[in-house]
Amino acid sequence: MPGGEDKRGNATRAVEAGRRKVWTGPVVNPPVWRASTHIYESEAERKAALTNNRDGQFYYGRRGAPTQWALAEALTELEPGAVGTVLYPSGVAAIAGALLAVLSPGDVLLLSDNSYEPSRNMGTGLLKRMGVETRFFDPLDIDAYRKLFFERTKAVWLEAPGSLTMEMCDVPALCAIARDHGAVSLIDNTWATSLGFPALERGCDISVTSLTKHISGHSDLMMGAASAGDKLYRRLRITSQQLGQVVSPDDAALALRGLRTMPLRLERSTQSALQVADWLAGRDEVAHVLCPMRRGDSGYALWKRDFAGGCGLFSFVLKGQDEAARARLVDKLELFGIGYSWGGFESLALPFDVDRIRDAMAWPKPNWNAEDRLGVRLSIGLEDPADLIADLERGFAAMRNT
Ligand SMILES: Cc1ncc(COP(=O)(O)O)c(C=O)c1O
Repeated sequence: MPGGEDKRGNATRAVEAGRRKVWTGPVVNPPVWRASTHIYESEAERKAALTNNRDGQFYYGRRGAPTQWALAEALTELEPGAVGTVLYPSGVAAIAGALLAVLSPGDVLLLSDNSYEPSRNMGTGLLKRMGVETRFFDPLDIDAYRKLFFERTKAVWLEAPGSLTMEMCDVPALCAIARDHGAVSLIDNTWATSLGFPALERGCDISVTSLTKHISGHSDLMMGAASAGDKLYRRLRITSQQLGQVVSPDDAALALRGLRTMPLRLERSTQSALQVADWLAGRDEVAHVLCPMRRGDSGYALWKRDFAGGCGLFSFVLKGQDEAARARLVDKLELFGIGYSWGGFESLALPFDVDRIRDAMAWPKPNWNAEDRLGVRLSIGLEDPADLIADLERGFAAMRNT
């Protein structure tokens, strides 16, 4: 079923999505089809398959089998406006696959300055080597962004909110400008997922998600996906086939399992994150809480207007302090692991310094005290928020005690 025709609630849609009877058989979930070779009934059937490159058809292991098809279809159903979804072995592979599907040598890519670091590196590394030029832009400065378009500008890469620094941009406005100039808009929609931000409905042409995060939800698999409408889905699909991208059926089954409970997990981690963020905002050690879901945040109005949900990921900036003090804080935490990924059931804390990965946006922000610049990103999991707050309180005590 193409995304967007189902008007039921998110939790119901996540439970039902992709569960075609022909794939599940008499059980609830599609079995794990481990398969490289698909056996044809006859030479005539093998020859017919050569010209039948469509989703949901057996051909050869790289085109998947019902376990992967069920996951791809589930994600398509949850993304209004999508006709199909391509699965990739990681979120970064999905980012690369989507960009390679729409860019050619000589093209210019406009890349939002607060994008996930490997997305930035894709622009300055792989794409540069291919003859694609990347220009970073401040997604909050729409007038400057508009002026960047010219005949070679072919694609725009967005992320909302931005990685680590969590700025919320006006995605529909940025996409509309790109469309007016004949450029394609792609978004890294990992933070909100299609349930919290129906990216294609809001004007994006391709929605990319790291399934490693919320869809998995259990910190035990790596996977990515890109969903699009008709024309671009065909380009995504053929490019991924040419690149030989495939995901394991075992991981697809795990991702499907995670997907079923994702709306509940997101709801809970969002509520807990807001509680922890409010508590942090009242602390003397904290200069800024960066959480667009929180009333009073500079991104709150756009989040409220465009998003139907959020998640447990947000950041804060310490008042003054040096790196040793910040290390004392995170080293003391017992419930928060120190780690890069996020979206799992367990909470994480990640110190960050973005000075080196911002070209068009200032850090610290122009209206801040210059010494308030050391950040910590939190991924709030499913623990009791009071316990997380107590853990952070112990961390702050350790930070103060030199
Ligand atoms: C915003 C964002 N996009 C994409 C990715 C990449 O996902 P993966 O780890 O599945 O490659 C990450 C990983 O941290 C991320 O934070």
